[in-house]
Amino acid sequence: MKERRLGKTDLHVSEIGFGCWAIGGNAYGPVRDKDSLEALAAAWDSGVNFFDTADTYGEGHSEELLGKFLKGKSRDRLTLATKCGWDFYLPAGKQVLPSQKSDSSLPGSPGKLNHAGHRKNFDAGYIRFACEQSLKRLGTDVIDLFQLHNPSLELIQKGDLVSVLGGLKKEGKIRFIGISVHTEAEALAAIEDLRVQAIQIIFNLLDQRMAERILPEAEKRDVGVIVREALASGLLTGKYAPSHEFPKDDHRRRWVPEKREADWQKIQLIQKTLGFGSLPLLKAALEFTLAFGAVSTVIAGAKTPAQVLENVAASLRPALNPEDIERLKELYGREEIFRKGLNPR
Ligand SMILES: NC(=O)c1ccc[n+]([C@@H]2O[C@H](COP(=O)([O-])OP(=O)(O)OC[C@H]3O[C@@H](n4cnc5c(N)ncnc54)[C@H](OP(=O)(O)O)[C@@H]3O)[C@@H](O)[C@H]2O)c1
Repeated sequence: MKERRLGKTDLHVSEIGFGCWAIGGNAYGPVRDKDSLEALAAAWDSGVNFFDTADTYGEGHSEELLGKFLKGKSRDRLTLATKCGWDFYLPAGKQVLPSQKSDSSLPGSPGKLNHAGHRKNFDAGYIRFACEQSLKRLGTDVIDLFQLHNPSLELIQKGDLVSVLGGLKKEGKIRFIGISVHTEAEALAAIEDLRVQAIQIIFNLLDQRMAERILPEAEKRDVGVIVREALASGLLTGKYAPSHEFPKDDHRRRWVPEKREADWQKIQLIQKTLGFGSLPLLKAALEFTLAFGAVSTVIAGAKTPAQVLENVAASLRPALNPEDIERLKELYGREEIFRKGLNPR
């Protein structure tokens, strides 16, 4: 497995990382811990050394599983990334625990609830509390990359949250600071904060918006880029026709029919460009994102060892040639359909 440096840090991360959202068990339909642990083992054995999770994935379960799996593994060989900011400790309407009370004037961002019914909480006291809980679940005394989980643009621009993370860094609880974002404006604001070592962005064949401004800017300023949803949450495997019904507890149930139809049409165009099957869609999707030098690692989500082995092949046995990459960029720029069904930014 090839490795790349994560921004200005001294961390060398595997090109294909492991995205641990699905194994939490509350976002991608039913998963069995046995399969998840085997998937993690397959990744480790293939040279994956970057694991991205969040406290909210499975309400702590993803972190617990990762902690269990990593017990006894060489800490030097591994980069552990997690996130905070979705408060699952506090069911709506319940009282705030004393340990969760804010010790600063920072506003939280209550906003709307996520698919699992959690609310955002970026109060300084809460962030510190969440960090302690993550350390315990992960079974470690330091988190390599601690990321803010989709704070608002306003909060990123204010910079106070990064100061809170700076405090945790000084105390040795975390090593580096990251921000996971949705929009280009948020990504830019995160890059502009010189204390931030990595951003986490959505980037894939269906949504190449980050290629225009954000990737060059991150590369210029040597900020690490973690690509998420490179498979467009599984769509870029080609296995989900618009009529497919996702199970309960699968966040993909929220996709509206117009998005499903538009994405399916885009996928047909991509397949046509790739010569229908001469190069599997999934492999092309992962290799496409790795073709950008600004990208440090692509955290492919996986639920089974078989999925992991397919995903790591993008780094171990690349097959997408430079002409294909240009054709895929050109297709995205040319076809109006690629502007349809994108999440608003
Ligand atoms: N806001 C944020 O910060 C945020 C948001 C989203 C994700 N993330 C992070 O980014 C990671 C990656 O994103 P993601 O997991 O949502 O999406 P993804 O990597 O685009 O897709 C993952 C899903 O695709 C399917 N899949 C993966 N490999 C496959 C293979 N070889 N063959 C067939 N199907 C395969 C699996 O689901 P099925 O088999 O059920 O289709 C898997 O759960 C997450 O795990 C998480 O760590 C962060």
